[in-house]
Amino acid sequence: MTALTSQLSAHIGAAFKKHNLPEELGAVRVSDRPDLAQFQCNGAMAAAKIAGKAPRAIAEDIVADLQQDPIFAEVSIAGPGFINIKLTEQALSDHIITLNADENLLVDNIGLSKNVIVDYGGPNTAKPMPVGHLRASIIGESIKRVLKFVGYDAKGDIHLGDWGTHMGMVLSEFEIRHPEWPYFDKSKTDGFPSEPPITIQDLETLYPEASKASKSDEARMEISRQVTAELQKKQPGYYALWKHCFNVSVEAMKKNFAALDVYFELWLGESDAQDYIPEMVEALQKQGHAIEDDGAIVIPVKQETDKKEYPPLILYKRDGSVMYGTTDLATLVQRMQDFNPEKIIYVVDQRQNLHFEQVFRAARLSNIVPEGTELTHAGNGTMNGQDGKPFKTRAGGVMKLEDLIQMGVEKATQRLDEANIGQDYSAEERADIIHKVAIAAIKFADLQNNRSADYIFDLDRLTSFEGKTGPYLLYQAVRIKSLLRKAADRGLKPESLNKVELGEHETALALILADFPNVVDLTARNYTPHVLADYAYKLAQSFSSFYSHCPILSDAAQQGAQQSRLFLSALTLRSLEKTLDLLGIPTPERM
Ligand code: ARG
Repeated sequence: MTALTSQLSAHIGAAFKKHNLPEELGAVRVSDRPDLAQFQCNGAMAAAKIAGKAPRAIAEDIVADLQQDPIFAEVSIAGPGFINIKLTEQALSDHIITLNADENLLVDNIGLSKNVIVDYGGPNTAKPMPVGHLRASIIGESIKRVLKFVGYDAKGDIHLGDWGTHMGMVLSEFEIRHPEWPYFDKSKTDGFPSEPPITIQDLETLYPEASKASKSDEARMEISRQVTAELQKKQPGYYALWKHCFNVSVEAMKKNFAALDVYFELWLGESDAQDYIPEMVEALQKQGHAIEDDGAIVIPVKQETDKKEYPPLILYKRDGSVMYGTTDLATLVQRMQDFNPEKIIYVVDQRQNLHFEQVFRAARLSNIVPEGTELTHAGNGTMNGQDGKPFKTRAGGVMKLEDLIQMGVEKATQRLDEANIGQDYSAEERADIIHKVAIAAIKFADLQNNRSADYIFDLDRLTSFEGKTGPYLLYQAVRIKSLLRKAADRGLKPESLNKVELGEHETALALILADFPNVVDLTARNYTPHVLADYAYKLAQSFSSFYSHCPILSDAAQQGAQQSRLFLSALTLRSLEKTLDLLGIPTPERM
């Protein structure tokens, strides 16, 4: 199972080898100039240095060999020694048939079932879920899907923020307002009510008030801190009420994430790290990695070569409470014990870069995470409003994820009306299509940008059915589905062929189809879903141009051409839907 470029590289590598040159020089890639060639190999440049000969002379030797190879229709030299390559129709047809026959569309299994943890999403309990966590959720979901597809046993962990001062603020605010609740009876250690005394709406209004009260009054803040420290010691009353807040929040989050088609295998959080902390800190102190500093316990992480300031990672504050870094480090202890993963990838706002650098350094120097396990902070940029600042509501408040999805749905409804789509469908089907269009718009807008770049959220543009948008991609996929349905009605099915007839437009499409495994491989290695997003757009455009030039159902088409075109259409649909699925975007049956 190999991508077309890998197969071609093997052919050309053999030619280099024959001339006593390194085989790797035969590496082939898709040509930058599709008008001149399909593929190119630039190995003669590097070979020239090794052999002490002019690159052109080397290229001539290689080309002379390749011309004997029946899979090449044309091999030529451009400029100082670039080798341009074009395949025969037969060779490309053979390849496309092999591609179609492979369940994974020739994507290599590089994961070999090894464990990977993708840490993404990271919302905080007891707070309304703001759009700030949207990018990490969307990008992380895609990275996880890609890693699974290339053979890793990848698990998504939401790593809830459920153990910090914000929980102390909320719990203490409840205590101030309802001192009579059993949770605040310090002599009580069990038998707390099993029904939550609060709803998600209560939490969503309470948190901002508790936070404001704490931040504006040092004495009030001190109470929040004390309650945080008590919670972290699992004081029974606070812990019981905390658990209610946790459950109520998680239930609401699950709904939000399901609406976004984002799913987590692990619903763990900072609180799950607590039980690992005392032993971890003790060991770190024994090893001399953790030291006392003005009443706190810290791990110095600075290195001699540093060009900027690396403050120590704080494990215990003076009041004995733990910090964001403590729970992240202890979570690593837990992950190594439970999964011994090959990689741990954090898809988290890139503004947290220093935090992760501190945690990773601490994990390495104490050998909590050995060198064999990759630790990557795949940081994401911010979603901004038209003013270039982080996206807010019109009133300037925090935009909730729920409300954003609702905005997307309203806009998608308007778009479907404008385009006269689905007027005669059942209300249920229409609602499903609208939801999928909204999700595709929101997710594709995000995923098409480089992960670390900020981008401006423009709902009007991204719900359009034209241009580089999610709805455009759905529209193309649905067009193919409809074509295949119409063909089936006439008794035409994409058969398994011995030969795919490849004219100019078919060839252009076939070459893009053949590139799929390379694109997936690149995305899996670099955690860059935008590469896949680009591919989806290129594929959809190429199909659109093929379809407008190559009639399929009209009588004009010859039988051979018709079968070949149906075959290519079906394969395009499969690749496009798979690409969209890897991006986390579901496709409707019709629109
Ligand atoms: N809860 C954190 C926040 O809102 C994000 C968590 C990211 N993951 C992690 N392992 N630190 O900023």
